[in-house]
Amino acid sequence: MDARIAVLGGDGIGPEVTAESVKVLDAIGRRFGHDFTYVTGPVGGAAIDATGSALPADTMNIVLGSDAVLFGAVGGPKWDDPLAKVRPEDGILALRKGLGLFANLRPAKVYEQLIDASPLRPELLKDVDFIIVRELTGGLYFGKPKRRWENSRGRRAVDTLAYSEKEIERVVRMAFELAKDRKKRVHSLDKMNVMESSRLWREIATEVGIEYPDVELIHMLADNAAMQIITNPSSFDVIVAENTFGDILSDEAAVIGGSLGMLPSASLSSLPPKNGRRRRGGKPALYEPIHGSAPDIAGKSLANPMASILSAAMLLRLSLGLSAEAEIVENAVDSVLAEGYRTHDIATGGERPLTTGQVGDMIAGLVAG
Ligand SMILES: NC(=O)c1ccc[n+]([C@@H]2O[C@H](COP(=O)([O-])OP(=O)(O)OC[C@H]3O[C@@H](n4cnc5c(N)ncnc54)[C@H](O)[C@@H]3O)[C@@H](O)[C@H]2O)c1
Repeated sequence: MDARIAVLGGDGIGPEVTAESVKVLDAIGRRFGHDFTYVTGPVGGAAIDATGSALPADTMNIVLGSDAVLFGAVGGPKWDDPLAKVRPEDGILALRKGLGLFANLRPAKVYEQLIDASPLRPELLKDVDFIIVRELTGGLYFGKPKRRWENSRGRRAVDTLAYSEKEIERVVRMAFELAKDRKKRVHSLDKMNVMESSRLWREIATEVGIEYPDVELIHMLADNAAMQIITNPSSFDVIVAENTFGDILSDEAAVIGGSLGMLPSASLSSLPPKNGRRRRGGKPALYEPIHGSAPDIAGKSLANPMASILSAAMLLRLSLGLSAEAEIVENAVDSVLAEGYRTHDIATGGERPLTTGQVGDMIAGLVAG
């Protein structure tokens, strides 16, 4: 297969970790005879410095001409001026909007070898492997009216949580499609006891669920889910939630695994292709680690590249339909951990921490077979 992959490293450790993912993708390409071409352009703070825009038109054109986007991270103290007109984060927001990325997928997996790095008790962590599907382009963050004003009674502000039937249906369907190939369980989160938008959410989730008789649908209040994610995380398979609930709960889920450096994500604008088939037409999906640009360790070869490499595995599976190849990458990450190799963020003592490049080489070496 040939594929064109836009690699947007961005700022800080972003380019360091995406470089390791490219090593791993190259190793996959060589082993299976795939021809991956990489195209790149500036984004975030680096793009502001070069062009004044966080997502220059040339970068967007490169993205639109590619099959998938591997994104690093943007931001850093250099661009932190709260009065600045353009911010590095505008780059990722413009990409999400421009590509219509309505579903954000964040796997929450606990690696046996990293259980000690988790803030939860080991007995709670057995078999934890779930994925949160967060609605990304609607809800409270985008609904109108959204404004602030002042009158004789003081200051007031309003945000609006609005969803259309179509917006709910497509993201809930995404959750069911994913669950079909996993443990066949969807938890749909809402606050139907107090919110009208949640009552519509629950109604539509139920309707979509009827089309998937093999998948169990469990409606759960979002506040209860916040407790269950900590007290009973292995009970989940696929969680689907509107933008704000998903934002908060996916950060809660992120700490279960113990390190930001291990967690990938995918943002999609359409259903994943069936196994063995690649995504054709439409706009490319975007894959990125959940961590930021980590300015405190940038340029020191300390970054853990595994979250980016696991994001590349999601790219292989969800954009190119290469599930077997994705699994080989995921197994290589498992093996490197099982053999006790660690970057500093996941070292628990005793191990000799490896550099970003050494971890990338090791995973690429295993992937090469
Ligand atoms: N999607 C994105 O591009 C994105 C996401 C989050 C934050 N940011 C930006 O990144 C900058 C820094 O933000 P922050 O410090 O809050 O979050 P961060 O994720 O960059 O870093 C938090 C902590 O985790 C560590 N860390 C993160 N990734 C790591 C990795 N791969 N390996 C080892 N250690 C790692 C860092 O060293 C730091 O101590 C800010 O400008 C922020 O706006 C960007």
